[in-house]
This record gives sequence, C-alpha cells and structure tokens, in this order.
Amino acid sequence: MTDTAVLQERIRALLKERNAVLLAHYYQRDEIQEIADFLGDSLALSIEAAKTKAEVLVFAGVHFMAESASILSPGKTVLLPRLEAGCPLADMITAERLATARREDPEAVVVTYINSSAAIKALSDLCCTSANALKVVNSVEEGRRILMVPDGNLARYTASRAGREVTPWPGYCPVHHNLTAVQVEKVKADHPGAPFAAHPECRAEVLALADFVGSTTAILAYAERSDAPEVIIGTEIGIMCQLKKRAPGKNFIPASEGLVCETMKLITLEDILASLTEMKHVVKVPEEVRIPAKKALDRMLALA
Ligand code: 13P
Ligand code: SF4
Repeated sequence: MTDTAVLQERIRALLKERNAVLLAHYYQRDEIQEIADFLGDSLALSIEAAKTKAEVLVFAGVHFMAESASILSPGKTVLLPRLEAGCPLADMITAERLATARREDPEAVVVTYINSSAAIKALSDLCCTSANALKVVNSVEEGRRILMVPDGNLARYTASRAGREVTPWPGYCPVHHNLTAVQVEKVKADHPGAPFAAHPECRAEVLALADFVGSTTAILAYAERSDAPEVIIGTEIGIMCQLKKRAPGKNFIPASEGLVCETMKLITLEDILASLTEMKHVVKVPEEVRIPAKKALDRMLALA
C-alpha cells in the first residue's frame, strides 16, 4: 500500500469512528477528493452541510465554507483542518466598510457572494453562489438598487445576464482574475475548435471569449455533455480530477497553468488526519452573527 493509501484508509476509519463526514470542494487536492463523502461546489456543499445527519463535519475547503456549515448546522462540530486556509476574495471586504456602504444607501439590497465571512453575511439581505447568482438577483424586486459584494466580476456578469443595474464591490478572486484574454486567445489558437468554459469569477474580457460560463458544477456538466473531444477550462485546476473521471475519453486543457488556489491546496491528508485525531480546528460562529447570517443564507437556499 502506498503512503497515500494508508493515510486515506486511516482517515476513512476515523471518520466512521467519530460519526463524521468529509465535505470537499472541487478545488481540493485529488487525494482528498478521492475519499470525500461529499464533493461539490459552494452551493451543493452548503445544502449538504444543512442536511447531513453526521455529528462532525470536516471541511476540506476554505474558512468561509466551514463558517457556512457552522451557520447552517449549529448543533454540529465543524472542523477546518488548516485555519490558514482562507479566501483572499472574502478578505477584500470588511464589516466596517459594508456597514458604511449600507448607511450611505439604506435602500439598496445587499446580495453577498457566499465567498465572504459570517460577519459580512450577517450584514446582508441575501446570499448567492456562482451557481444561483442570476436567480438570486432576479428575485430582487424590480426597481430596487442592488449592491453585490465582494466579487466585482461575478456582479458585473450577473448584472449583464439579468439586464439589471448592480453596483459591484471592487473585490476579485486573484486566481480567476489573473487569467487574461491574451492567455485564453493563445490556448484557443493552439487548440482550434475547442470550446472554452469559464467561471464567472473571471474578468469580463475573458468571459466574452467563453462558449460557456458557469459554476464549477455547471462547468463539469457542460464538459461532460459537450460533443467536443477537447475543452479549454477556465477555472481552478483541481476540477481536472473530476473532469477526467466523468469524461475519461476527452482532453481538458487548463486556460492557464496559473489557475491554482494556493489556500485551497494548503490542506493535506496529514492535516485531515490530525484534525480528526485532535478534533481541531473547531469553527463556530457566535450566535449574534450566526442568526442574521443564517437569514441571508436561508433566503438563498429557499430559491435553490
Ligand atoms: P463555486 O464552487 O461556486 O463554483 O465557486 C468557486 C470558488 O471560487 C470557490 O471558492
Ligand atoms: Fe477564494 Fe478564488 Fe480560492 Fe475560491 S479560488 S477560495 S474565490 S481565492
């Protein structure tokens, strides 16, 4: 047995012993995706966190995902194997700055991307993910001003699809925002005829080159059903693991080798084993933040 297989087996045994489940995002390392009880995009992971019967949730993802699980399942123990696994996009807004924006425009509806801290969600009217942003924005009464935080690219893309005016917050995901139109054009020229699927966290000029725009789950489904023998992928490289599994006969080309989320990759099998052994690091959102944050998440989940 390889060292990896031994670690995987020890983790699976401990998960059982602790009545725990391992939830993993598609951007996690392959060896973690392989042993997850549930694998998904941000929306699917929130839905699973809300309904799982397990007592312990081990979150192989970033901090805001573990917080969302704690908001939705306060009676469960939520573990994040590495506390430093944060999301730079989520850090591009502070509660103070959002509170000021709310005071300046008290009538605006605040739609908050799930990639945000619990404190930001608590100051929001509604949450959204990349999978349901259009549905969420369309649910807002016509004529109401909308402030969308913290991802400006997702806000601009959603506004263009909805045909509505949306004020974008000036935040961005460094991984997706770093992908340039020049890089995409070069890969397209090297692979003529290959469709390009992109995540809405990419810049507008990159999305303008896309044949398909969607969340990680939507990109997986698109790549699987596409008749094309090769597809150019404009999202984080971790998704390749599932793409290869679901469509083994096709060739998936990363739009750039730079599409790597360093914080998602911080978590290792060793961290997960230590997390389960020592029951660390517990992520618990305090009630005064959890209750208003849950309201914003519940409004989104009611639309899902
Ligand atoms: P989705 O999981 O909604 O596709 O979002 C991608 C992402 O950046 C998660 O951090
Ligand atoms: Fe945050 Fe971007 Fe990494 Fe997702 S890919 S966790 S949005 S930095």
